Amino acid sequence: MSFANLLSTTNNRINTISINRPEKLNALNIDTLNELDQAIKLAVSDSDVRLIIIRGVGEKAFVAGADIKELAHLSMEKGFELSESIHKIFSETIEGCPKPIIAAINGYALGGGLEVALACHIRVATTNAKMGLPEVSLGLIPGYGGTQRLTRLIGKGRALDMIMTGRMIGADEALNFGLANYKIDQENLNSFTVELANKILMNSSNAIKHAIKSVNAYDQPGCDGFKVEMNEFSKCFQTKDFVEGTSAFLEKRKPNFN
Ligand code: CAA
Repeated sequence: MSFANLLSTTNNRINTISINRPEKLNALNIDTLNELDQAIKLAVSDSDVRLIIIRGVGEKAFVAGADIKELAHLSMEKGFELSESIHKIFSETIEGCPKPIIAAINGYALGGGLEVALACHIRVATTNAKMGLPEVSLGLIPGYGGTQRLTRLIGKGRALDMIMTGRMIGADEALNFGLANYKIDQENLNSFTVELANKILMNSSNAIKHAIKSVNAYDQPGCDGFKVEMNEFSKCFQTKDFVEGTSAFLEKRKPNFN
């Protein structure tokens, strides 16, 4: 399937979704967000795909935020509707995705762009990455989950500092905060991300799916994460991957989960 604002390609079990509006620094208009939702859902239903990478086209930006042009004239009601519908995409389609999603952050990841990255399972940032939630400079606050996910990831004090100043942080600070998992030179971003993906793909995709669900339960309001873990743990038993993983260990060989 082809998209107007995205490129989606699959190679060796890795689906790469590239947000493709470089002339607007990959700003997320509503069409692009809906396409992102669709592209991830397609990748989830495609048995050839085991892992997804999200990146931005061009040298300058992962995503420079929600498309300000579209936000500029919204009423309170429309603003709420927008936030509610995008929250669903970020929580259910991205964060809740049963296949791992890596954000490959090159250049600007601002506002809604950083919020996409925050909903992903792992973030790789290049040395030229600039990450921030500058919404208060527009008279807004982050509205695609940023106040919650950033706070959960880096703590309240740091999140409030980033949100109230609207400042951009680089890869070193992001790494230090635990916002980025890895820092890498720009020219090595693709090769590093694929290498990381392949490391994950050595493991059981079925187990990873249960791990994502269990870890996500950690900060879901009203959810007993330990209970979710018990359930997800138990679902791994008697699966093909569990038989292969334990047999391989006992037979002193590498498992083959394909
Ligand atoms: N929305 C719409 N268009 C955007 C955009 C955005 N978030 N970010 C960049 N663009 C557009 C610019 O308008 C410009 O388009 P034109 O050539 O047609 O004028 C093009 O992309 C290139 O941008 P600049 O000329 O501004 O590039 P620069 O290198 O001078 O500056 C920048 C780069 C500092 C990232 C600057 O573009 C910028 O500040 N962008 C806005 C960042 C921002 O505020 N993001 C938060 C958006 S609100 C949000 O995301 C709310 C939410 O939580 C949901």
